[in-house]
Amino acid sequence: ASTRRLTFVVREASYTRLCSPKNILTVNGQFPGPTIYAMKGETIIVDVYNKGKENITIHWHGVTMPRYPWTDGPEYITQCPIQPGSKFTQKIILSTEEGTLWWHAHSDWTRATVHGAIIIYPKNGTKYPFDKPDTEVPIILGEWWKNDVNAVRDEGLATGGDPDPSDALLINGQPGDLYPCSKSGTFKLTVDHGKTYLLRIINAALHEALFFSIAKHKMTVVGTDGSYTKPLTRDYITIFPGQTYDVLLEANQRPDHYYMAAITYSVAPKYQDFYDNTTTTAIVQYNGYYTPSSPPSLPHLPAYNDTNASVQVMAGLRSLADAEHPCNVPLSTSTNLIYTVSVNSYPCVNNSCAGANGTRFSSSINNISFDTPIVDILQAYYYNISGVYGDKFPSGPPLVFDFTADYLPLIYQLPSSGTEVRVLEYNSTVEIVFQGTNVLAATHHPMHLHGYSFYVVGWGFGNFDGNRDPLRYNLVDPPFQNTISVPSKGWVAIRFEASNPGVWFLHCHVERHVTWGMETAFIVKNGKHPKAQMLPPPSDMPPC
Ligand code: C2O
Ligand code: CU
Repeated sequence: ASTRRLTFVVREASYTRLCSPKNILTVNGQFPGPTIYAMKGETIIVDVYNKGKENITIHWHGVTMPRYPWTDGPEYITQCPIQPGSKFTQKIILSTEEGTLWWHAHSDWTRATVHGAIIIYPKNGTKYPFDKPDTEVPIILGEWWKNDVNAVRDEGLATGGDPDPSDALLINGQPGDLYPCSKSGTFKLTVDHGKTYLLRIINAALHEALFFSIAKHKMTVVGTDGSYTKPLTRDYITIFPGQTYDVLLEANQRPDHYYMAAITYSVAPKYQDFYDNTTTTAIVQYNGYYTPSSPPSLPHLPAYNDTNASVQVMAGLRSLADAEHPCNVPLSTSTNLIYTVSVNSYPCVNNSCAGANGTRFSSSINNISFDTPIVDILQAYYYNISGVYGDKFPSGPPLVFDFTADYLPLIYQLPSSGTEVRVLEYNSTVEIVFQGTNVLAATHHPMHLHGYSFYVVGWGFGNFDGNRDPLRYNLVDPPFQNTISVPSKGWVAIRFEASNPGVWFLHCHVERHVTWGMETAFIVKNGKHPKAQMLPPPSDMPPC
């Protein structure tokens, strides 16, 4: 495979949105950041220069990085941050991924503005599993704060309450016509009647799950998370933070202009998850001579709290599972884990915090809220530095209770904290059931695993039933994803084979849940064969 070299200069640049100018962190001055175009199997070298004022790391979301976690990017998991004035040379090692992935900062909340698309084309001599689209367009969904994002984060942590919600949702960096003084910047996609457009849609928002739709047009999903799917036609999609969808749009309607639009999906109560409920828009504009209707028509989107609508894509998504795109789902598993994912509230002296009823918000997996170490776990593992992490996670089965009942005893609300990871033998076959809980309040959690894609074999509402639910697993053509949302008051089951040695982060992709501790990691041991072992670190790892 060929090797290309790119330069990422992380630096501040001034951008104005909602009538207010602001310095944001960017790559090469661009927001959203530059698109990386690659071919399946390629390795790309990126020289990352930190010319900003704060620590930074860059992560290649959904790239499995075979045997090379060293430049995967999550801070204090696989590296220490790149300090201002320093440089780190990172490799993006593509293998089986094809379709749409993305890259983003993985330090504090800097990914709010430091992100961009990774588009992976079929290898020479191979084709898309659908008719070649006429044009391809990245559609990056995001969020905008008028204030500095890390200041918003720090203030949330200081009060113990919810951080301030964003001031706007964005499509390709623009709030769109329905927000104050945003009209002139609205993203416009011009189309020719009769042509087909491949939208490479990324939810880069820090917190918000989104319903996305295009007025009067159908959307056909043909891929997700860097893997193709059987075509799935829908009027709208739900895209959770971290996820990507490849969607075909046929320009087959009356020549006019139409809105594409996104709104937040949220079921959390007011005190926990308030947000801006304006619709972000962009315009699909047909080329040709006609008088455009005024204003463009808005698509119908589900109600903000419509949980049934939120699972409609997940319910229909299937991998190709054909000769060229085989399904390798483990039919049985050697390691079976149940991870409960909860939002908790932690007591505060005099009930003085700004969370629910005077408490401080927290998040946990199996009632352990993750403590970020000060030396990265990968380094500690590789060089045998003790005292950085514990490797007995989870220490036993989760507390068993009716996870999704309306009222739960207070004891379930008190997580302990720790830096706990799970060690996996090389080539073990793993099943994880993520069980959502109603501990403080039920909400969805888009769980993301680094270093792997996994098969989503089952999901449902209520409590997972280990006797009955596995009988309904899809072991024929389950979708192959890297980020899957645990439905509100529900569960999801994933499977993968631990064939990629290294240290791999596992976390919710709702950023404030990460800030509150909803994360852990896997250490996947080396196999016997030299080709089953981690590669050595590069010489320029950022110091801690
Ligand atoms: Cu998209 Cu750990 O991240
Ligand atoms: Cu979450």
